[in-house]
This record gives sequence, structure tokens and C-alpha cells, in this order.
Amino acid sequence: MEADKQRLQLERKVGLIGAISFIAGTMIGSGIFMSPQYALSSIGSPGASLVIWVCCGLIAVLGGLCYAELGTVIPESGAEYIYMLRTAGKVVAFMFLTSFNSVLRPASTTGIALSFAEYVVALFYDGCPPPQLVVKCVAAGGIMGVAIINCMSIRLATDIQVVSTVVKVLALVVIVLGSVVVFVQGNNQKLDYSFEGTNVGVSSIVIAFYQCLWSYDGWNTLNFLTEELKHPEVNLPRAVVIAISLVTGLYLLVNVSYLSVMTPKELMSSSAVAVTWGNKVLGSWGWIMSVAAALSAFGSLNGTFFSGGRVCFVAAREGHMPDILAMAHVHRLTPSPALIFTTVISLLVLIPGDFQSIVNLFSFTAWFFYAITLSGLIYLKIKKPELPRPYSVPIILPIVVVIAAIFLVLAPIVDSPQIEYLYVTLFIISGVIIYIPFIHYKLCPGLLTKLTLFLQLFLEVAPAEKNL
Ligand code: ARG
Repeated sequence: MEADKQRLQLERKVGLIGAISFIAGTMIGSGIFMSPQYALSSIGSPGASLVIWVCCGLIAVLGGLCYAELGTVIPESGAEYIYMLRTAGKVVAFMFLTSFNSVLRPASTTGIALSFAEYVVALFYDGCPPPQLVVKCVAAGGIMGVAIINCMSIRLATDIQVVSTVVKVLALVVIVLGSVVVFVQGNNQKLDYSFEGTNVGVSSIVIAFYQCLWSYDGWNTLNFLTEELKHPEVNLPRAVVIAISLVTGLYLLVNVSYLSVMTPKELMSSSAVAVTWGNKVLGSWGWIMSVAAALSAFGSLNGTFFSGGRVCFVAAREGHMPDILAMAHVHRLTPSPALIFTTVISLLVLIPGDFQSIVNLFSFTAWFFYAITLSGLIYLKIKKPELPRPYSVPIILPIVVVIAAIFLVLAPIVDSPQIEYLYVTLFIISGVIIYIPFIHYKLCPGLLTKLTLFLQLFLEVAPAEKNL
């Protein structure tokens, strides 16, 4: 076991540019091509929807800055998991781990895959809504395709990540510039940023926030790989500021662009907003936007599969995860057991789920844990002021984000309780039920060893020897 711990050490290879692309490449994915219509239909008016996009950008920047301090005070990889372990303790960290594996990661892969499918299918169902079964089958194909790529080769997965990041930034720039051209040509008679029709109900506001925050999610990506970052004390805060402000600026411009060529009604009734935008502005070249949005989502799906593995490694290092989930293929060095596990759960989530409800559940769960993590930062600032802090934020920042997070999590439960939130809460709590017998009292260790051995032989995997 000692030897395994040695071999799992990660190397510092990611510089500032890599760090910025990790954050921006994860943030930009499916959301900006899907969420604007859902956010708008929930909040009811274009003006209010833009305000929500600004607020979410602000929350992402503040959250990112707070996480930058956490990442430099606790310089270990594993993001929320490791921060909770060091501040709130083992049980809470384990609860996060089970929720990460059973809700957060599968929900993010499924949400992104559904967006990928909408855009692929839009290419073939010109103008008419595609059957849901077809969308789901294509989404399942996307999930399995990415899983196979990630099981086969790290190089291929990395190349796809780079290509798709370039494509998605270009696509957003095209949307912004295209609308500027339309504006200059004077076809902007549809400009409408009014607040008329705003739904002021708490649930409508929170659901609009959930949709926008999904697009911004990924602002914490770098904290999953702090141990692989060169000079984290400098590069982490810098990358956070540069990447999140870049993405926030782009998102706001893209939203203004959507609204400058479509009426709010058109936007709300579109199932794939970038396609509607493409058809209006690029005419017969509109299909290019579908391809770009599909590639963007595919890249994001790939990145989500790729980066989530860090949590498994760190958790296995702490003895919180079945060893098998932290192993890698003996020849290809890919973390195939963890990938297969995520694929199976994602496919199960895909069967009943649709984009909007999956995103809402994701945001609910994610913000529950962001609140606990940031409370940990407040705790550290008050109780352990002596810890070395190469980067520090004023205590008011985490307090503001925690208050926002508490509102985001509690408001929909109090305002209009839905059975889904109960299921997710049960999933989160189930972590404790697994923790006490299996981790704390180490019940059935033999069973796990036998299963691990069987799967190890079957999948040809061994404890990872190299930084994956
Ligand atoms: N922001 C991404 C998108 O718009 C979703 C990110 C999901 N979360 C994650 N950590 N991968 O598609």
C-alpha cells in the first residue's frame, strides 16, 4: 500500500495557459448553447434574464477567488473532497464522494450528452422537433463514444479537448460578431431587453439561476488538479481571474447576440438556440453552428470524464474509495474502471432524465456542496489565521457566496417542494449509511478484496504508476 501511495504521486506539468484552458474549456460546453432559452422561459423577460446571467458570472468569479485561496491554503488535488476532508471531516467528505459519483458526475455527463444529441439530431430534423427516443439514443452513443476514447488513449482524449476548446471559443466569437454585423446592417428592430413579464416567484428565479449556473459550472476545475499545477500559489489565482472573466464576458455578449436576432418568444420555443441563431444569421450555412455546438458539448463531455478521475485517485489515496476505481489499464494507462462506473450510472440517469431537470438537480447538489466547502474556508480564516496564505480573499467574499448558495439550495425546497429534491437529499445522506459500516468499521473487507481481484484481472488494470 505504501508503494502504491508513492506511485500515485502527480507531476506538476500544467502552466498558466494550460490552467486557463482547463477552466475555460470546462465552463464552455453545452450550457451557453442550451440554457439561455430555459433561463428565459423560467424568468419570463429578457431584461431579467440578462441580469441573472450577470449575477451568475459574479457568483462564479467570487466562488473562483475563494477557491483560489482554498487551493493555496490546502495545496492538495481533489477540490471539494479534499477541502471538506481537511475542514469538515471524513464523514462529510465521504458524503461528497458518494454524491459526486452517483449524482454530480453522472448528471453532468448526461446533461452535456443530451445537449450534444440535440445538436447532432438538429442536423437531420430541419425545423421540426426530433423524437425524444432518437435524442436519447444519440446521447447514449455520445457517452459511450467518449468513454471508449478515454479508455483507449489519453493522447486522443487530450487532442479532442484541445480541438473542441478552439471550436467552441470560435463558435461563440462567430455568434457575437455575426450579431454585430446584423446590428450594423440595421436589422436590429427586435432589440428587446425589457423587464415586462418577469416572473418574480422564488422558484422561477432559482430555476433560472440553476440553468445559468450550469453554463458557468467548471469554475472550480483547477482545484481538482492543484498538485499538477506549476507554482499554484501564483497560477491558480491568475488563471481563475483570467478564465472566469473571459467566459463571463463572452457569455454576456452571446446572450445579447441571441436576443438581438431573435425575439424572446423565438428564443424560448427553440430546442437548440444556436441552430435557430445560425439559421437566422448564417442562412444556408446555419448547420455550421450545430456542428460547432455538438463539438463543444462533445469536448466538454470528454473533459468531464477526464478530470473527474482526479477525485477517485485522491479519495483512494485516503482509503475512501474501493481500490479498483483508482486503478489504470496496464498497457494504456487509462483509468478504465472509474470510466466504466461513470458510464453505467450516466446511462441509467439518461433513461428518465431530460436536460432541464438534470441540470436543475445538478445545480442543487453542486451548490449544496459548494456551500459546505466555502463554510470550511470561513472556518479556516477564523480558526486558523496562522496558516500560510500566499493568496487571500476578504472574509466577506465567502460569506456572500455561502449566503447565495444557501438561498439557491433552500429556496426551491421551501417554495415548491419537488420529489426529485428528496431523492437527491437521500442520495447525499446515503453516503453516511455506507461510510459507517464499510469505511469506519471496515465490514466485509474480504468481499471487497475478492471483487477487486476479479475485476482487476477482468479489466487488466493495476494501481496507477504514472500521472494520469
Ligand atoms: N458548464 C458546462 C456546460 O455548460 C457544464 C459543466 C458541468 N460540470 C463539470 N464540472 N464538468 O456544459
